[in-house]
Amino acid sequence: EKGGYDYFMLKEIAEQPKAVADTLLGRIDVSGDLTLDEVRISASELREVDKVVIVACGTAFHAGLIAKYAIEHWTRIPCEVELASEFRYRDPILDARSLVIAISQSGETMDTLMALRHAREQGSKVLAICNTNGSTIPRESDAVLYTHAGPEVAVASTKAFLTQLVACYLVALYLGQVRGTKWGDEIRAVIRDLAEISGEVERVLETMEPVRALARSLADKNTVLFLGRHVGYPVALEGALKLKELAYMHAEGFAAGELKHGPIALIEDDLPVVVVVPSPRGRSVLHDKIVSNIQEIRARGARTIVIAEEGDEAVVPYADHLIRIPVTPTLLQPLVATVPLQVFACELATARGNEVDQPRNLAKSVTVE
Ligand code: F6R
Repeated sequence: EKGGYDYFMLKEIAEQPKAVADTLLGRIDVSGDLTLDEVRISASELREVDKVVIVACGTAFHAGLIAKYAIEHWTRIPCEVELASEFRYRDPILDARSLVIAISQSGETMDTLMALRHAREQGSKVLAICNTNGSTIPRESDAVLYTHAGPEVAVASTKAFLTQLVACYLVALYLGQVRGTKWGDEIRAVIRDLAEISGEVERVLETMEPVRALARSLADKNTVLFLGRHVGYPVALEGALKLKELAYMHAEGFAAGELKHGPIALIEDDLPVVVVVPSPRGRSVLHDKIVSNIQEIRARGARTIVIAEEGDEAVVPYADHLIRIPVTPTLLQPLVATVPLQVFACELATARGNEVDQPRNLAKSVTVE
């Protein structure tokens, strides 16, 4: 059932190109428009939405953090992302014009379920993004957009995360399409790029051997830090979460701009720091800033593990280890940048003799608060 792989996690990482393609299947029509018929919230209701609130836990929360950039950019609707476990306890401001998106692989996460119940009590519409047909969260929501990752067995979420991202992009683009924002041309271009992304994920998977070797060489480290900016920041958080749960190592993700506000004090000789570098095209300011961040930490002894686009030469002098990812539109980069981090964590877990599919103290679906 592991299809020749040692662990379900390896199988599920390898299935990501298909999972991504399956989640797009039937949702882009011949003219390149999105058809999300299954989202049973009418176009007129979606045009009325004045706020999007995303609730989720763990890895699904990281997908939500990335979705915020896409939703705000393509639709200009303000978007908040909140840990489901915090959400209802702070008396959030919600009404009939708020669209609440609950993201959950299992569809059974109690915190997320309680958050969406709270939202519906306030009269908000709830759209579930879920991987499990007929589970509780979609059943209790107004609408559902299923991710088509197939069953995810390993406790650590991989293919479900990538498909959650795809579903979030689809919702963001669909909202943009329905509301006719000024980004119409960009939206069409991104839909075309999304249709190609499964092949890019495949290409990343083909180049993972050096990442595995690097992970093995770090097996006796205690700490790994992760830095990112913009959508690379949630990717850094996700890389750190994977490492905690699988390798039981101290791992933290930071927004690179926060370094000098505290975390840079952690940098010491030979400390591995993974940096997710935004594309040098487009918003090049971000890119320049992160290149200086890499220089700063390296000058203080960090061992820099740099994840950067093919053709990005500016990072080369400062990268102790360079992991290349394909060129993608800025907002879609998490789909390719997360993959090496999953492989990295999985290999480190193996090298440290940990149980990959069933990390200690964790359950696949958390049905208690
Ligand atoms: C991390 C992981 C967890 C889940 C979280 C939410 O690898 O698997 O952080 O993402 O428990 O679970 P779902 O998506 O089922 O609501």
